[in-house]
Amino acid sequence: MRRSRLSTVGGIGLLALVLSGCQLVEIDSALTTFEPAGPFAQRIDDLFWMVFWIATVIFVLVQGALVVTMILFRDRPNRKEPKQIHGNAKLEVVWTVIPAVILATVAVPTVSAVFDLTECSDDAMVVEVIGHQWWFEYRYPEQGGFTTANTMVIPTGEEVCATMTSEDVLHNFWVPALNGKRYLIPGQTTVLRLQADSDGEYWGHCAEFCGLSHSLMRARVHSVPRPEFDAWAARQTEPAPVPEEGSPEREGYEVFAQYCTQCHAVDFADNDSGVNDNILEEPVFNGPNLTHFADEYRTTFAGSALPEEGESFDDALKRWIANPPNVKPGSFMPDLGLTEAEIDAVITWLKSNK
Ligand code: CUA
Repeated sequence: MRRSRLSTVGGIGLLALVLSGCQLVEIDSALTTFEPAGPFAQRIDDLFWMVFWIATVIFVLVQGALVVTMILFRDRPNRKEPKQIHGNAKLEVVWTVIPAVILATVAVPTVSAVFDLTECSDDAMVVEVIGHQWWFEYRYPEQGGFTTANTMVIPTGEEVCATMTSEDVLHNFWVPALNGKRYLIPGQTTVLRLQADSDGEYWGHCAEFCGLSHSLMRARVHSVPRPEFDAWAARQTEPAPVPEEGSPEREGYEVFAQYCTQCHAVDFADNDSGVNDNILEEPVFNGPNLTHFADEYRTTFAGSALPEEGESFDDALKRWIANPPNVKPGSFMPDLGLTEAEIDAVITWLKSNK
């Protein structure tokens, strides 16, 4: 008797612990799947709640029947042994057919959603997503083929067809407010439909373990009205100016030309004039293109892991350039041993790349 009471208390305590764990899930978390911002995420949300309520009704019915049976037919003194039954064809058919019908009810909308969510409509705007350790690159083939990093800008209320691949290992693109997860696979192309119905910033994350700094590989989508999107895209096709001799930006530009061009491309206005002999159009290693590093929508860097909350853009940038692997373990951007003056100069120049 004491033992069973002890185990009851223990069981309730465990249940309380499990339930209190649910409290740890932040309601307003950036990666919540319960706040769909467009039709594709909405479709997943609807499916989730449909399955949830079906499962809840089944749970209540089955557990209810179990409890009623346990109470009504429990053993009592002087109770006769109940009639023993072996097999009942009718019952067995019923409890096979009912689950089959339930599974079919869940499977039909699920399977059709799985296909719908990954087959873009013909007029959707294509954005290519390329996964790198540990950042996302975005290319816009329909707007002149420019490339940007970390922040994907999309027009609000329009379908965007993310056409995705990876340059190195498996990654997974996941912006929960816009759609579910989808793999980025080297040598293959996968497709994901995205749409935001209101302007704003939508955060996501790489959802496949892809190495040391997987936890710092964030995805960020910025949705803006169509005219602003067009203006942004037009800006992205503009080349970066070469800073004039003696200007404050020139010093940083020279540091960049000396140290950074193996990995970072910048599309300069006069790449053939000889001023930019060091600047490669195709870097040896693929780091983010820095032509519009300081664009008004591109407010994060280092795989959108920086700046951290409460940290200024400049402070974060300084910390990053001074020792990248210190910020992102395993980072392919090395500690170049730049002096503080050189770092400040590079930042001044970077911030002129609007
Ligand atoms: Cu990329 Cu995890």
